[in-house]
Amino acid sequence: MLGTTSASKKLAQMIYGYWQSQCLYIATNLGIPNLLQSEPMTVEAIAKATSTQVETLYVVLRALAHLGVFAEKPGRVFAATELSEQLITNAEPSLGHFLLHITEPSMWDAWRELGNSLKTGEVAFERAHGKKFYDFFMTENPDSRNLFNNAMSFLTNQAVDSLFEVYDFSQFNTVMDVGGNQGALIAHIVNKFGCKGILFDLPHEVETAPAFLATQGLDEDAVQVIGGNALEEIPKGADAIVIKYFLSVFSVEDAIKVLTRCRESLPKQGKVVLLQTLVPPRGAPVEYPDGTIPALAAVQMMVTNPGGYWRTEQEYKSLFEASGFQLENVIYTGSSLTVMEFQKSSSD
Ligand SMILES: C[S@@+](CC[C@H](N)C(=O)[O-])C[C@H]1O[C@@H](n2cnc3c(N)ncnc32)[C@H](O)[C@@H]1O
Repeated sequence: MLGTTSASKKLAQMIYGYWQSQCLYIATNLGIPNLLQSEPMTVEAIAKATSTQVETLYVVLRALAHLGVFAEKPGRVFAATELSEQLITNAEPSLGHFLLHITEPSMWDAWRELGNSLKTGEVAFERAHGKKFYDFFMTENPDSRNLFNNAMSFLTNQAVDSLFEVYDFSQFNTVMDVGGNQGALIAHIVNKFGCKGILFDLPHEVETAPAFLATQGLDEDAVQVIGGNALEEIPKGADAIVIKYFLSVFSVEDAIKVLTRCRESLPKQGKVVLLQTLVPPRGAPVEYPDGTIPALAAVQMMVTNPGGYWRTEQEYKSLFEASGFQLENVIYTGSSLTVMEFQKSSSD
């Protein structure tokens, strides 16, 4: 019994939080939301289809039913719900991919090292795995990499409608997405606004991008795919660079390096369009309507990346000013994504 005050109940929910996410991970990783999408199944049938033990599986499924993820019917039959439908992973990139990425064992192992990393200054993920996050994901664990890519595409697909309502990319001839992952965002931009696109990401990451882009209904030469390291050189050819959830993987020093490479790549009137969830200043609401708590996501960034974390509007402004850009506009999309538009400083 943890207590019945609202304070102890709130804490109890936080304490139980990882039980919930682990049960969700197990069921989604076993593909149970996929199995239930066509019709309800008995626990025996689900156990057979997932090569699991009936009685222990039942305990997990009943817990998830009590959380509203599945519905339990008489005869230990489980059915899909509105929640489990969002966890289907055999169709489009979904919240299920995001869940599997965020809660996969390599992430649990990394979070376990957070306390140690606060003392030693190491990156928790690197302490746990002996390698950098992107090396682990991109080169050695193709399943993890696919989950990561699908999770990123899902977040992009969710955000584009409200983004395109407030920001017009047709003002540009060529837009380059730096750190653009598989190219979900640049494909949406090119399809919607008719400009040319360049996708720039790490060489290993872009290996699979052409196959992804081929599924996005683009003209053959609409998006040029280039692999490289943004810390070293960013190709020329675009009049705007879009950066979404990318600067947040870098320390202040490295972020300034990347932005300096952006400035070198852009023409005189070139712009950088930063798309990012901002950590709210003290006193402002701490949670977005989609449930994102940026200060908590900032911890996840710190667990996985050297010196990276989500920042406040003022911190991004300072990073860009230190790299030869000036802030032109801040546009709130109504979702957790904010647009900050920067122009090269006139001294350039
Ligand atoms: C958090 S993901 C964001 C992806 C995408 N912008 C989005 O919003 O879906 C960061 C991306 O940065 C890429 N990346 C990390 N370090 C990089 C570097 N030094 N140069 C180029 N890309 C890099 C990763 O491969 C990954 O696709």
